[in-house]
Amino acid sequence: MDYKYLLYVEKGPVATVTFNRPEKLNAIHRETWFELRACFRAIAANDQLRAVIVTGSGEKAFVAGADIAELAELTPTEARDLSALGQAVLDEIAATPRPVIAAVNGYALGGGLEVALACHMRIASETAKLGLPEVSLGVIPGYAGTQRLPRLVGEGRALELITSGDPVAAAEALRIGLVNRVVPPDELLPACERLAGRIAQRGPLAVQHALTAVRHGLQGSLAEGSLLEQNLFGLLWSTADMREGTGAFLEKRKPDFQGR
Ligand code: COA
Repeated sequence: MDYKYLLYVEKGPVATVTFNRPEKLNAIHRETWFELRACFRAIAANDQLRAVIVTGSGEKAFVAGADIAELAELTPTEARDLSALGQAVLDEIAATPRPVIAAVNGYALGGGLEVALACHMRIASETAKLGLPEVSLGVIPGYAGTQRLPRLVGEGRALELITSGDPVAAAEALRIGLVNRVVPPDELLPACERLAGRIAQRGPLAVQHALTAVRHGLQGSLAEGSLLEQNLFGLLWSTADMREGTGAFLEKRKPDFQGR
């Protein structure tokens, strides 16, 4: 797939999506959102894929935010529509039926952090800086940062980041649970690829249902989430993968999952 502002590469069962506008620190404008939506729709439809890595090109940035030059020219209605567009695309990323890992290789600010928050997990380089600086521009986060950040790190920590606008370094991001792990810069992609590779060896339908159980479960009550888990758990007994996984264990061999 060819895009103007993204690079897309498949290596076996793992796709890597790279924001590719390094001269603007990968800042996201409207066209980037359209490309990102097309890219993740193609990923969702490709059942050969087992995991996705999202990162930024260049040494400095994952994504340094929404394109401020574009924001500055919007009318209120256009600003609301752009917020709705970005939120809808990020909802699609969050609903991807395979795990999406953000490889945070530098600045993840504003819309950049909101992209990372929509991914299922985040691994950061020691050089990363993460924050929601929108209040410094006289606005608030518009791509669900006010919603996903408190769900991940808690209300108090989220409000400190959102109201101060101050970014945090990778070590602090790790301490508050904003990222899963911090690694040296040249270890970042290898670490993400190793994790994606391990996920790719597991039962694909089991991984997909686990994503669904956690994502929907977090939106409702414990009782509703537990009921969903029961039903997805039972559903997996209808799959060849379940028979392959349990059979391989009992026969002391590696499973060969087909995603059926
Ligand atoms: N929107 C549009 N352009 C951006 C951008 C953004 N969010 N972030 C960086 N750029 C552009 C700069 O304007 C500059 O372009 P130019 O060379 O044509 O002038 C280029 O990217 C390089 O950025 P620069 O500011 O020179 O790099 P730096 O290393 O000095 O600073 C940052 C890096 C990330 C601290 C700084 O770019 C910044 O504060 N960016 C905005 C972050 C932000 O507020 N994001 C939230 C937006 S809602």
